[in-house]
Amino acid sequence: MTDSDTFGVYPGSFDPITLGHYDIVMRSLNIVDRLILAVAETATHGKEPLFDLDEREDLMREVFRGDTRVEVVRFSGLLVDFARSRGARLIIRGLRAVSDFEYEFQMALMNRSLWPEIEVIFMAPDSRYTFLSSSLVREVARLGGDVSKFVPPPVLERLEGRFGPSVSGG
Ligand code: PNS
Repeated sequence: MTDSDTFGVYPGSFDPITLGHYDIVMRSLNIVDRLILAVAETATHGKEPLFDLDEREDLMREVFRGDTRVEVVRFSGLLVDFARSRGARLIIRGLRAVSDFEYEFQMALMNRSLWPEIEVIFMAPDSRYTFLSSSLVREVARLGGDVSKFVPPPVLERLEGRFGPSVSGG
């Protein structure tokens, strides 16, 4: 790390991390030198979690093991307070479809009103992932569907442990 390196925060629930998230991380690393993947203890949308925070963090660390540009950190409280505490002025979020826009725009403007120095960049994922979400992966896996095209190998392995071989098409 040097004084001039650029870095951003990519926050989310990551329950679990999908190939859509992975794609956004890789695209972000074309525009910043380092990325903090910030795993929220408090998500804005209260959802029934599949993996607890420790599991989510472990899986993400496994996915990016060996990549020194990526750091996985959990945070509680406000995202802008976390970003400020790390000296990060850039938040990255994936934007899959118009339907994401309203929620993302609201959050971006609320975050900016809480801390005017923050900037938010929306990244478009590869078209293969525009319909993909962690909540759909959770639902399909719970119901015995094949999610092997949508999650990185460590996540697939963990889902197999939870729901059996059907999650990888077996
Ligand atoms: O992956 P998600 O669930 O869409 O991510 C939402 C997340 C975690 C980015 C959002 O809920 C968040 O920032 N939570 C932290 C609490 C916070 O700052 N809330 C105010 C948001 S304007």
